[in-house]
Amino acid sequence: LLQPKVIIELIGNSLEMAGKQQNWVLMVTAQSPTNIAVIKYWGKRDETLILPINDSISVTLDPEHLCTTTTVAVSPSFDKDRMWLNGKEISLSGGRYQNCLREIRGRASSIEDEEKGIRIQKQDWEKLHLHIASYNNFPTAAGLASSAAGFACLVFALAKLMNVKEDQGKLSAIARQGSGSACRSLYGGFVKWVMGNDVNGSDSTAIQLASETHWDDLVIIIAVVSSRQKETSSTSGMRESVETSALLHHRSKEVVPKRILQMEEAIRTRDFPSFARLACVDSNQFHAVCLDTSPPIFYMNDTSHRIINYMEKWNRFEGTPQVAYTFDAGPNAVLIARNREVASLLLQRLLFFFPPLPDTDMDSYVLGDKTILKDAG
Ligand code: ADP
Ligand code: DP6
Ligand code: CO
Repeated sequence: LLQPKVIIELIGNSLEMAGKQQNWVLMVTAQSPTNIAVIKYWGKRDETLILPINDSISVTLDPEHLCTTTTVAVSPSFDKDRMWLNGKEISLSGGRYQNCLREIRGRASSIEDEEKGIRIQKQDWEKLHLHIASYNNFPTAAGLASSAAGFACLVFALAKLMNVKEDQGKLSAIARQGSGSACRSLYGGFVKWVMGNDVNGSDSTAIQLASETHWDDLVIIIAVVSSRQKETSSTSGMRESVETSALLHHRSKEVVPKRILQMEEAIRTRDFPSFARLACVDSNQFHAVCLDTSPPIFYMNDTSHRIINYMEKWNRFEGTPQVAYTFDAGPNAVLIARNREVASLLLQRLLFFFPPLPDTDMDSYVLGDKTILKDAG
């Protein structure tokens, strides 16, 4: 439950390049956690600025387990901006990357390091090009908020590299223009993204509700049901819901405002039964909105439904909730146990009722000392 941090800062790692006068590269590596919403953001009122139709609340995960690591480098020897995601080059031409780069470049300040002979003036940043390499240590575009960790990390790393002197709030607002959920990943603990009213988005910001130490009994277990890339991205899914789902409009106006207040109170008082009930009903309503979208969007699969069923039965059997479940735009379950004891039971039960199957994306898998080919059944 930590906010982004710089893990390597390399100023002036001199490159030996004959014939170049300015043979240097400057780079920063940062790490940023993902966050999972317990009251979901789904729907925009402004597609370019990324302004939502309701408030949302999330919990930021521990970056040791699910995180993005991004290295940003600048050198006079780079002739254009380039980015690699999980080792594959991707295009930076999309509006979201361009918006983040422009916002950060516009706020860059000068850097001087006499010892290493580096001097970058404010205006130089407009001409210098960047190379960016980012890795997610968890499935990308599979409903575990890779866009949140990814854009939070990108903006944070760029800001460090370019000596941007803005506070976390401003960086969060820039990350929001990369992916809405990213604005919440700039903070640890429990975070609220306030939708705001302003047409230019000045009051649509994330705020920390409680720090990572506030409720440290909670244990979050992620059950990866499938690491496949989803068919409908969050961006296009929510656009279709805004256009076609009457339930979404009822949800954002009538349901979420009350739920936000109740969730804030549950977090403040560490009231697990209320927290769990609210998180579960909100996840289910979000997926109901997806079904109410035309054509319908199916993010969960049979295994996700079986997990919900099992958790509901367990909570009913105990008489009071032990485990909360929530699913983002994908089939993977985020399970929140009320304490370590429950988490250990939960893990045992998951392994018993949902034994890990060989990754269906692989052609073969190892079972004991044998290699089994998938096609052999
Ligand atoms: P998710 O549920 O994983 O957030 P989305 O559909 O919201 O899925 O977003 C996936 C997209 O986010 C990717 O296709 C890519 O464009 C972007 N993304 C994912 N990881 C990163 C990253 N580390 N850095 C920059 N962009 C990323
Ligand atoms: C279901 O933030 O990924 O995870 O703003 O279009 O990039 P864009 O979408 P994104 O949507 C997240 C949706 C969600 C719920 C949530 O995180 O609040
Ligand atoms: Co996303």
